[in-house]
Amino acid sequence: MAIRKISARKVSSRKSASKSAAAHKSNTKKKSDPLNSEHLEFLSNALLTLNKGFEHLPEFKNEVPGSRRLGDVLTAAAERLTDNYPYFHPLYAGQMLKPPHPVAQLAYTLAMTINPNNHALDGGRATSAMEKQAVAQIAAMFGWTKFLGHLCSGGTIANLEALWVAGQSAPGKTILASSQSHYTHERISKVLQLSFETISSDTRGRIDLKLLEKRLTRGDVGTVVVTMGTTAIGSVDPLHEILALRTKYNFRIHADAAYGGYFTLLENLEPDTQKAFAAIGEADSIAIDPHKHGLQPYGCGCILFKDPAAGRWYKHNSPYTYFTSTDLHLGEISLECSRPGAAAAALWATQKLLPLTKRGEFAQGLAQGREAARTLHDRLHADVRFITPFVPQLDIVIFALRTESVSTTSLLSRQIFEAAAKRDLHLALADLPIDLFPNLPPKMKRDRQTITCLRSVLMKPAHFDWLDHIWQRILQSVAAVQNAKTTISSPTK
Ligand SMILES: Cc1ncc(COP(=O)(O)O)c(C=O)c1O
Repeated sequence: MAIRKISARKVSSRKSASKSAAAHKSNTKKKSDPLNSEHLEFLSNALLTLNKGFEHLPEFKNEVPGSRRLGDVLTAAAERLTDNYPYFHPLYAGQMLKPPHPVAQLAYTLAMTINPNNHALDGGRATSAMEKQAVAQIAAMFGWTKFLGHLCSGGTIANLEALWVAGQSAPGKTILASSQSHYTHERISKVLQLSFETISSDTRGRIDLKLLEKRLTRGDVGTVVVTMGTTAIGSVDPLHEILALRTKYNFRIHADAAYGGYFTLLENLEPDTQKAFAAIGEADSIAIDPHKHGLQPYGCGCILFKDPAAGRWYKHNSPYTYFTSTDLHLGEISLECSRPGAAAAALWATQKLLPLTKRGEFAQGLAQGREAARTLHDRLHADVRFITPFVPQLDIVIFALRTESVSTTSLLSRQIFEAAAKRDLHLALADLPIDLFPNLPPKMKRDRQTITCLRSVLMKPAHFDWLDHIWQRILQSVAAVQNAKTTISSPTK
């Protein structure tokens, strides 16, 4: 075990280790550090506790090849890793990237020293139990006590399992999803050889209910994918209204809540959004990604089925795997085999520290990001230079400059994106259909069908406190672009 190895090292290597620990300590005083020296001390203590559990084993010499060069190689890896956007910092306000909570990072690292495999109880007894507990807490957030579910590597695989079960349950029937749904649904349907059709979204990016019903009347629909927070703009399909259509036309509902699922905990969403989330427990399956809003490192998705009998589709023989216990092995109910038990340990620890309760600290963090998004939207909306298509339903803000044409606006979005990056503010870009912008100025030339706009996912609680810094940098970037003599029409709202 790691700690025992450290104590057996030569004095010289201990000296250099303590030197680098001191260097680390002096380098990790800033609040913005993803992991600081105090965190590393917690990890060190936890490793001692873990080590104690295996103390009875006879000592063995753990010869690790290359251990003398390890420190240098790790430093080289750190140097390579600096070639990244600062995802952990509040000035990273672009894509859907949220730093894992330190407890998740530490619990993951701790468990990784054992490297359990949650495919079977034989590979990860403790972490399988932790996974079952953590997944049950997520299911409870949706009001489910009886269900079938497990962790997986992410939203794509969670959706794949949902559509696979959908296809098994209603063979030959069609899958429907909105034009703003995640692109994986169409691709997964191809992989599974299921027929797939797209239903256009309305001007708020939600599945168009009239078009959906029109398609349902033609029959042969097995499943409707309802997106609870679209990837590009964070719009929420009206699940509560789709339930009424299900009564009439009888189809399965898969809620793709990979990004938006945790917003179920909030109580101050817009009335329609709130109603949609209140109905999420009525879906047949739910995909939710702890590695998006659940403070987990990548490699942590989750799929839940309302009917535990969905387990029958997963039945398989593996004569060499499930032999130590008659209890449920997670591999018996998942498509992936080997999976990191460390991901389960990280999720379990995070939810122990920050339970998934309404008004709890975790929920407050989500609410802060959403508040930041709404405040940024309000500032943009009040400034005649900008176009903002809608008030964010969750925590994604979309905006662009008002100019004489869609193509000029699109060009300027790219320039602002680059000018902001020079000021350490990292935004994202999205190419969206102009139909999502019903409020484009009448005189603006529609010389393109899509408009490139700026997109900011304000999913860190710290975004709220940093909003003035973000706003100042947006304004400075716009000024820099405007000073570069590009044609911008006179602002009239
Ligand atoms: C709504 C939605 N579904 C599915 C996915 C795919 O998830 P992953 O990237 O974890 O595979 C995403 C990713 O952003 C998403 O936003």
